[in-house]
Amino acid sequence: MNRILVTGGAGFIGSNFVHHVVAHTDARVTVLDKMTYAASRDALADLPENRVDLVVGDITDHALVDDLIGRSDAVVHFAAESHNDNSLADPSPFIQTNIVGTFTLLEAVRRHGTRLHHVSTDEVYGDLELDDPLRFTEATPYNPSSPYSASKAASDHLVRAWVRSFGVEATLSNCSNNYGPWQHVEKFIPRQITNVLIGSRAKLYGAGLNVRDWIHTEDHSSAVLTILQHGQVGETYLIGADGERNNLDVVRRILALLGRDEDDFDHVADRSGHDLRYAIDSTKLRTELGWTPRFTDFESGLADTVKWYQTHEHWWRPHKEATEAAYAAKGQ
Ligand code: NAD
Ligand code: DAU
Repeated sequence: MNRILVTGGAGFIGSNFVHHVVAHTDARVTVLDKMTYAASRDALADLPENRVDLVVGDITDHALVDDLIGRSDAVVHFAAESHNDNSLADPSPFIQTNIVGTFTLLEAVRRHGTRLHHVSTDEVYGDLELDDPLRFTEATPYNPSSPYSASKAASDHLVRAWVRSFGVEATLSNCSNNYGPWQHVEKFIPRQITNVLIGSRAKLYGAGLNVRDWIHTEDHSSAVLTILQHGQVGETYLIGADGERNNLDVVRRILALLGRDEDDFDHVADRSGHDLRYAIDSTKLRTELGWTPRFTDFESGLADTVKWYQTHEHWWRPHKEATEAAYAAKGQ
């Protein structure tokens, strides 16, 4: 795999993956990214020009996608509309990018016989009760709750159908909640950190008892590269790092790291259809492909992330006001 096309490679996780590929392989990377509000050129800024190039374009553009895939040995597909709250406000771009965009890529990899890795989410499985002893596995039935997770579920089904019906050489992964540098301030952890940094208060949806299974984005990247290199075509691998925490605990930890009182947050309007708990069992990935996460201490990873936002205000500040205005309009 000398030439890898990374869709959504200017986003939070995609850009981390591009850095990971450059550091751990000799491959050349082409990033295909529409440069939506969630993309960042800065996240790709310090990469060598002879290893990485950026094509600004849409994954639903057949001619562009066909041309780029025709010149690639493998495609790693991160591009998506990724935020649940946005999908509740306007589902339309989620259908277009996440479903039609994935269809467009599948048709091109089918024509060219190109290897594909499709990046997806644990949200396709719906949610778990707080006291459920079971976690999501590759055998858990799909039961998505939001327009975002339904669009990702649809894209997963398309990939499996193209594998079975057309022999497309694809693998899939479903990962839990990522945290780390370069995450947009609309998402939970960066929103709370930056709220505190601008002198505002953290905002917790509902009672804050919802549980997310946190994984550092570096570990997501290493897992995706492992699957791309060693995964079995047609197989799905769940990616997780045993990082279950409820939102209240995470907010209190952020407040403590920033020297604020542990009750310095507001309860705001809950998310419609809010999933209660996600939890990943990544045994298959660990036993079959030998992957293990490096960032197993969530508290220490969170402390580093807080420091990163403290030192990168020039990056997040321009997005903060509009993001908070949109939340305020919804009582969040
Ligand atoms: P992000 O929103 O930060 O980045 C998405 C990127 O896709 C952006 O750079 C954006 O410009 C690009 N993009 C959007 N529409 C496009 C289009 N039509 N054509 C080309 N590019 C387009 O998202 P993220 O959090 O980095 O998530 C990346 C992928 O990982 C998504 O597929 C998401 O479903 C999946 N995922 C995310 C998480 C998480 O916790 N964030 C967890 C599991 C899986
Ligand atoms: O599980 C993987 C998914 O994780 C990915 O597929 C998505 O792309 C990614 O955005 C993330 O989805 P969530 O909806 O879980 O993430 P978010 O950061 O939006 O919210 C995390 C939790 O925090 C969730 O329970 C809602 C809550 N929340 C969120 C915000 C923005 C708050 O309590 N307050 C907030 O201000």
